[in-house]
Amino acid sequence: MKKKVTVIGAGNVGATAAMLVAEKDLADVVLIDVLEGVPAGKALDLTEAAPIEKHDSGITGVTGDYSEAKDSDIVIITAGIPRKPGMSRDDLLSTNMGIMREVTKDVAAVAPNTILIIVSNPLDAMCHVAYETSGFPKNRVIGMAGVLDSARFRAFIAMELNVSVENTHAFVLGGHGDTMVPLPRYSTVAGIPITELLPPDRIEALADRTRNGGAEIVGLLKTGSAYYAPASAAVEMAEAILKDKKKILPCAAFLEGEYGIDGLFIGVPVKLGESGVEEIIEIDLTAEEKEALGHSADAVRGLVEDLKRLR
Ligand code: LAC
Repeated sequence: MKKKVTVIGAGNVGATAAMLVAEKDLADVVLIDVLEGVPAGKALDLTEAAPIEKHDSGITGVTGDYSEAKDSDIVIITAGIPRKPGMSRDDLLSTNMGIMREVTKDVAAVAPNTILIIVSNPLDAMCHVAYETSGFPKNRVIGMAGVLDSARFRAFIAMELNVSVENTHAFVLGGHGDTMVPLPRYSTVAGIPITELLPPDRIEALADRTRNGGAEIVGLLKTGSAYYAPASAAVEMAEAILKDKKKILPCAAFLEGEYGIDGLFIGVPVKLGESGVEEIIEIDLTAEEKEALGHSADAVRGLVEDLKRLR
């Protein structure tokens, strides 16, 4: 039987994710949004592209009808407002908390066995909201951030060294915010750590650009935030799960003591397979890297505390 992926939010990230799922022939897609007409319109448009793109994925779009999400293997939640220039991801907390709660409640009611991939910001805090509201086990609530941040780091490494992006690998851990932790020692070109290929000041410049990667795009677009790379990242995670690939990717996962962090969603390397997060991989960190991760965890904890105040 064909797999099914539901995408909540038919905005730029959601529609692009729907397109990628369909074009990669991963699953049938349902797009759900609160807006009248928009999900149906985008789904029809994508359906009309299918003969040219050569896939037979079914794509439907509905307004507010969560019954369409029934039996989804994966639900990708992109609903929420994006950043405007000058805003941090954290400025979205209150509005997106309300939206995330509503959406997760509706999804959990019709698709109690699905796996949630959370994309809405502030990412790590939104994972908490989805985890608490859904009541799902922790392996079935996963946040998309590390794949995106690592892809940005990889793109910058490839540009800097004039090599194929395919030769690059990178790990960016921590929260999806200013405190994220790019790990140069674990970032490589054809297996060679970039610490052996670039001087420290250039590595720091690339890491900095990565940390500001989202804001750089917001500053250019002015009307919203990035969507091509975020959608690609979410769909890479979905593919790993749908195909039970056992792929190790940096994702926001609920930690219970791993990395010395307890009761918090934060970006760490995880193994993704048909059950969702099948393992949290603990890699050795230097004292400095541990401190940076701890600092990032503190920032996420602060947001989770704010959530409690807001409810
Ligand atoms: C970004 C937003 C999607 O990093 O968080 O572009």
